[in-house]
Amino acid sequence: MLCSVLLFLFSFEIQTLYGKPNFVIIMADDMGWNDVSFHGANQIPTPNIDALAYNGIILNRFYTQQACTPSRAALLTGNYPTRTGLGREPISVGENISLPINVTTLPQKLKALGYANYLVGKWHLGHHYKSVTPTRRGFDKFFGYWNGYVSFFDYMTYYTDANINGFDLRDNFRVAREYRGQYATELFTNKAIEFIKGHDTSVPMFLIVSHLAPHTGPDSKVEVKNLTETNEKFNYIRNQERRNYAGATEELDKSVGEILAALAEKSILNDTLILFLSDNGAPTVGQYANQGSNWPLRGIKMSYYEGGVRGTAVLWGSQLNKNVINNDLFHISDIMPTFYAAAGGHISDLGIIDGINQWDMISKNAPGTRTEMLVGINDRTRAAAYIDRKGQYKLFNGTSNYNSYYGEAGRLEENPEYNITEIFESKVHQTLKKVSDAALDDNMILQTRSQLDLSRCRIDSEKPNINCSSFCLFDLFNDPCEKIDIKDQQEDLVNEMKLKIEKYWEQVVPQPAKYIDPRSNPIYFNNTWDTWLNQFCLPNDSNPLCS
Ligand SMILES: *[C@@H]1O[C@H](CO)[C@@H](O)[C@H](O)[C@H]1NC(C)=O
Ligand SMILES: *[C@@H]1O[C@H](CO)[C@@H](O)[C@H](O)[C@H]1NC(C)=O
Ligand SMILES: *[C@@H]1O[C@H](CO)[C@@H](O)[C@H](O)[C@H]1NC(C)=O
Ligand SMILES: *[C@@H]1O[C@H](CO)[C@@H](O)[C@H](O)[C@H]1NC(C)=O
Ligand SMILES: *[C@@H]1O[C@H](CO)[C@@H](O)[C@H](O)[C@H]1NC(C)=O
Ligand SMILES: *[C@@H]1O[C@H](CO)[C@@H](O)[C@H](O)[C@H]1NC(C)=O
Ligand SMILES: *[C@@H]1O[C@H](CO)[C@@H](O)[C@H](O)[C@H]1NC(C)=O
Ligand SMILES: *[C@@H]1O[C@H](CO)[C@@H](O)[C@H](O)[C@H]1NC(C)=O
Ligand SMILES: *[C@@H]1O[C@H](CO)[C@@H](O)[C@H](O)[C@H]1NC(C)=O
Repeated sequence: MLCSVLLFLFSFEIQTLYGKPNFVIIMADDMGWNDVSFHGANQIPTPNIDALAYNGIILNRFYTQQACTPSRAALLTGNYPTRTGLGREPISVGENISLPINVTTLPQKLKALGYANYLVGKWHLGHHYKSVTPTRRGFDKFFGYWNGYVSFFDYMTYYTDANINGFDLRDNFRVAREYRGQYATELFTNKAIEFIKGHDTSVPMFLIVSHLAPHTGPDSKVEVKNLTETNEKFNYIRNQERRNYAGATEELDKSVGEILAALAEKSILNDTLILFLSDNGAPTVGQYANQGSNWPLRGIKMSYYEGGVRGTAVLWGSQLNKNVINNDLFHISDIMPTFYAAAGGHISDLGIIDGINQWDMISKNAPGTRTEMLVGINDRTRAAAYIDRKGQYKLFNGTSNYNSYYGEAGRLEENPEYNITEIFESKVHQTLKKVSDAALDDNMILQTRSQLDLSRCRIDSEKPNINCSSFCLFDLFNDPCEKIDIKDQQEDLVNEMKLKIEKYWEQVVPQPAKYIDPRSNPIYFNNTWDTWLNQFCLPNDSNPLCS
């Protein structure tokens, strides 16, 4: 009798390790697979991010969407972006679309559990009406920009060409001109620290630091804080743009250290889960090319090849496993249910979503429960990709302009040696040491790093291009670089996966044809980007976007 009463009581209380943990997501923009040094390249040292990885759980089969807007939509809704009309491509400046306001966001759900929510940096989910902007979509505080990118010091982004330029930096809703001239990565780090310092710790915190780096600015350049210093430090990188990318990445890496130090200072690091991730693969070439490298993976940003969607991701929590490589499938849409569960929420509150609650896998070492996922569907080119069998097989249908291999390997002798002392001395490691007994040694680090290194799948003599215009099947366990199409050997599986893609096709909400609204032109708004359609709202307007 007593037993059943206890069971009954427990069934109401979801057991969590932490009570309600704080969540801090630090997101890089357009950072390549090969551009964190723990993946095996020596060219751009990222000692802080690496220290976080070796002290935490490396999500080694983490998938994002192929571009910024789709990834951010999936992160904040727990759904594939094809369900919210944002699956195809990033929102352009002046484009009159947004994340639909009737879709509940992760911060809105966390708010109901008592969280205070903060967003620093990029939004990129629309701003044609006030009602679609961050402070109306679940964030209590916002400091950053609404568009896809801005310049690193001036916070400007072009309207349709370089002749018309608009300012895009806001403190909540206020145009924040006074920060002009401060380097974006530093400014966003400082604002994140300000939010952490000012946070009322009687409630839990949800913070996203959504960096500009290492995306390009509107003139297709990655700007660095100090060119002299970048040129000196990275003189072994011959390509100047790649060098600038390295300089921007160095600042991003420092930011991770500073944010962790601020959490420790506030005495909340122990109760905080930290997720570092990149929003999609790097665009090595083409539009907004930043010279990032997804080597040795195939393809770049905007493609469904691994180089576009297999993302860097690392999770740390004081009570989670250390120095673990997790090879189970994890999709960016899984973050919402996983965090919601970690916060003690009932998953059924989230309704039917694509995201899967992976909290048991993370917190209890349970086997991963995601067996398959839609990589993406492009409702214009009709390209599509699907991963099945716990991550082993990927069916790819369609063409891409970038179906080869790009970017630097970063493994030549001219690059510095991997410096483990730098990792131990990094701000991240020094900070984590204070709250957890991270018994890391050189061997553990080198072993983990060599397990993560995918170089072995690259054979340079192999013909790099591939034609998947009528389906390719890849065995990602044995061929993570997508070199060999094996569809002829697995006809039944191919047919099964085709049917699964078709099911998702039926549910696609098409992204509207791109329309750049001339009324958004910053010249009408004192050269700033504004919520240009709000001016047409009537006091009694029935349009819900006017609410
Ligand atoms: C964007 O504006 C154009 C022109 O007014 C209109 O035809 C289109 O329906 C709008 N798109 C959306 C998603 O509201
Ligand atoms: C949101 O609104 C759209 C129409 O604008 C509708 O098709 C969709 O079903 C709605 N979604 C939800 C979750 O209510
Ligand atoms: C850039 O760094 C160099 C070398 O450290 C220094 O002399 C110079 O003042 C810096 N420039 C700026 C604009 O901070
Ligand atoms: C595969 O791609 C072709 C051509 O791009 C397209 O016509 C077809 O609809 C796609 N098939 C599926 C099942 O998605
Ligand atoms: C490695 O980093 C440490 C700490 O920054 C530095 O003192 C040392 O000189 C570096 N070693 C090499 C071989 O560069
Ligand atoms: C942080 O949590 C760890 C693991 O639960 C514990 O061993 C440590 O004492 C805590 N540190 C602080 C400063 O609270
Ligand atoms: C790919 O193959 C299709 C036929 O399956 C062909 O029509 C197309 O031209 C090929 N594309 C390239 C770039 O070779
Ligand atoms: C317009 O922008 C300028 C700076 O470009 C600023 O000084 C001025 O206060 C702004 N005017 C209004 C009405 O916001
Ligand atoms: C809203 O108010 C305007 C006047 O401000 C009026 O002309 C219009 O009919 C009203 N619309 C509705 C739906 O009540």
